[in-house]
Amino acid sequence: MTATLIDGKAVAASIQQKVREEAEMLKTKYGVTPGLATVLVGDNPASKAYVGSKQKMTQELGMYSVGVHLPADISQDELLKVIRGYGEDPKVHGILVQLPLPPHLDQETVLGAVPIEKDVDGFHPINVGRLAMKNREPLFVPCTPAGCIVLIDSVGTKIEGARAVVLGRSNIVGLPAAFLLLHRNATVTICHSRTQNLPDIVRQADIVIAAIGKPQFVKAEWLKPGATVIDVGINAIPDPTKKSGQRLVGDVDFENAKEVAGAITPVPGGVGPMTIAMLMQNTLNSAKRAAGLIK
Ligand code: GUN
Repeated sequence: MTATLIDGKAVAASIQQKVREEAEMLKTKYGVTPGLATVLVGDNPASKAYVGSKQKMTQELGMYSVGVHLPADISQDELLKVIRGYGEDPKVHGILVQLPLPPHLDQETVLGAVPIEKDVDGFHPINVGRLAMKNREPLFVPCTPAGCIVLIDSVGTKIEGARAVVLGRSNIVGLPAAFLLLHRNATVTICHSRTQNLPDIVRQADIVIAAIGKPQFVKAEWLKPGATVIDVGINAIPDPTKKSGQRLVGDVDFENAKEVAGAITPVPGGVGPMTIAMLMQNTLNSAKRAAGLIK
């Protein structure tokens, strides 16, 4: 192993500890308890698990957690009513609508119903638009890509002037990650399923963010020696040596890549814990903003 292992669990734990302390301070000094409302629609098992973890962490950090679990066939109007209810609830500083939504619901309208000052996921079209422009300040940026940047900074990799390659162009990770890197003055290339000569492009990158959802897709031979590699993928692959018959791997062939990269995130224990940590931080910041403590 030549690469520095980027310990997302430890970085996330340290962020969460700070959030816990600040939440406590907000409570004792200003009488404000930061609150997060979760909205889960349908029975997607992964979504249920994610929402459960987010609620649990909210409580563990001493914040107020409230949530609804709505049937998969809920009408758009009913869902909008629920979101507007949380929008008007002063105990709620953040509203998280877990994605994906069932296909009969219009995602843009639903996400647009979250007041931008409670949009702790950073998915409201106005926050997305501000992130996509120069010299605009979104109130929140999406949690997973924000976590990727914190991890890059955690090992001292210089973003300014670096060549960064983002694999994947999703609204949740790839696109916002590219904008965050660009705003930090990296030279950014976004690659996707139609990109030609992918290995040649990845080979130029000082920073690689892989978010394509293909197990062990990025090979060690594609990496520039010393590159910082952030693996957002969480993929289950068969593993007969495990009780469950499977194990989790990222989008990067970690075992080989760690011999070439300068720093790399493991899966699990890399980006995964950061998503929740950034959500907790966004919820705290929202409460601080509501209390007039920050802009
Ligand atoms: N689905 C996958 N990732 C996310 C996320 O970060 N937030 C929400 N709301 N849904 C998701």
